[in-house]
Amino acid sequence: MNTIYLVGFMGCGKTSVGNLLSKQLEVPPYDVDTTVEKLRGQTIKEIFASEGEEAFRNYESLAIRQLPLENAVVMTGGGAVVREENLSYMKSKGTVIYLKTSFPILWKRLMKEEERNKRPILLTKTKEEVFELYQMRNEFYEKSDVTIITDHLTAEEICIRILDEIK
Ligand code: S3P
Repeated sequence: MNTIYLVGFMGCGKTSVGNLLSKQLEVPPYDVDTTVEKLRGQTIKEIFASEGEEAFRNYESLAIRQLPLENAVVMTGGGAVVREENLSYMKSKGTVIYLKTSFPILWKRLMKEEERNKRPILLTKTKEEVFELYQMRNEFYEKSDVTIITDHLTAEEICIRILDEIK
């Protein structure tokens, strides 16, 4: 099986769906943010603070290319597809799945203290600015191989749909 890449905005459920999907497919899950943190020995928040977003994007692009191309589920960060070469790389190597969640649902999740705090992008932006980012990124996400509308679906239901799409 070629690697499955999960993409989508912050809070769309890439991590919970990815972990569940990897169990069902009996392949390991890889989280790009965690890979970057291991690579740098710093948290995402620390990298943003010390080196800025561009440096983080470089590490993120590098991390995506270090992960296995077969028998894996990869959960990307919400901004990974903004570099078009990342999206085309993932599409050429595996199947890219967009977990599409409407903005009000995402916003409600992201405003929880612990969710907000681990994402530096959210700390400096207003709701309107995050919505603009969401709309802008949607254009990139929509280029994925498969789009799953996740609103009101559980992680289990989302996995069923993904498995149905890739069989
Ligand atoms: C980011 C999303 C985060 C993480 C970083 C930047 C973004 O990942 O990569 O904080 O720009 O959307 P999640 O989508 O897993 O929160």
